[in-house]
Amino acid sequence: MTQKCAIVTGAARGIGLATTDLFLEQGWQVAMVDRDESELSTAAGQRENVLAIHRDVSNPQDVGAMVRETKGWAGRIDALINNAGVAEFGPYEDCTFDMWRRVMATNLDGVFLCTQEAADELKATKGAVVNIASISGLRASTLRVAYGTSKAAVIQLTKQHAAELGEFGIRCNAVCPGPVRTKLAMAVHSQEIIDAYHDAIPLNRYGSEREIAEVICFLASDRASYVTGQVVAADGGFESTGVGLPALRN
Ligand SMILES: NC(=O)c1ccc[n+]([C@@H]2O[C@H](COP(=O)([O-])OP(=O)(O)OC[C@H]3O[C@@H](n4cnc5c(N)ncnc54)[C@H](O)[C@@H]3O)[C@@H](O)[C@H]2O)c1
Repeated sequence: MTQKCAIVTGAARGIGLATTDLFLEQGWQVAMVDRDESELSTAAGQRENVLAIHRDVSNPQDVGAMVRETKGWAGRIDALINNAGVAEFGPYEDCTFDMWRRVMATNLDGVFLCTQEAADELKATKGAVVNIASISGLRASTLRVAYGTSKAAVIQLTKQHAAELGEFGIRCNAVCPGPVRTKLAMAVHSQEIIDAYHDAIPLNRYGSEREIAEVICFLASDRASYVTGQVVAADGGFESTGVGLPALRN
């Protein structure tokens, strides 16, 4: 029961899977949570020191079971990585209430439910929460009324939880990834969007899943023991640059 344990939601692929692998490399055990049963069982089947938990983070009963199953397996929870997310992009007039609710249910309700449910276990370990927001929560843009708002809310929720849970020794931070070529991003990024991102990002490229995982695992670890309530953009410099007019470049 001395081996640390992280819950990673949305762990079947993409940033969640890269985060799982980095935790495993660093000697943690990982409860891999995902609602995509086949991708989850394939990913978990190829790894040791993991528990596959087929659950939906937007469902309160599932989230309760997720925490119980993790506790029963590992005996402890040291980190909760709220990574599960969905992206649906489109003009505001096409954003139906159903679409709004689908995005909020996973991206915002899921973070709320998982943190509330895991808080007692995290108190016992003085653990950490890392929420995966987005540059879309830092800077507004077209086509993402629901997604951008959900991610901005996750940033605020991170600060709310940091303020209240600090007295129990629980740290809460957010990571805002820039674009990464995952299934989620490739479903909504046209070639035109990809080119425009390259143009607007000082490092002039997409990030990798591993580069995001490095920041997540750092914030979850004791190396970040005096860091809470912070929002870290892992975005190639996108957020820090204001006026990005091509005419101002050489
Ligand atoms: N890829 C990017 O460019 C990018 C940029 C900024 C932020 N993000 C954020 O990073 C996180 C991970 O995204 P990704 O790009 O790796 O996406 P992805 O689609 O590759 O992986 C997301 C995983 O979450 C799972 N999932 C979705 N809803 C769920 C739910 N309700 N319950 C349980 N599992 C659920 C999916 O089945 C999938 O396996 C998301 O929160 C996303 O918004 C991604």
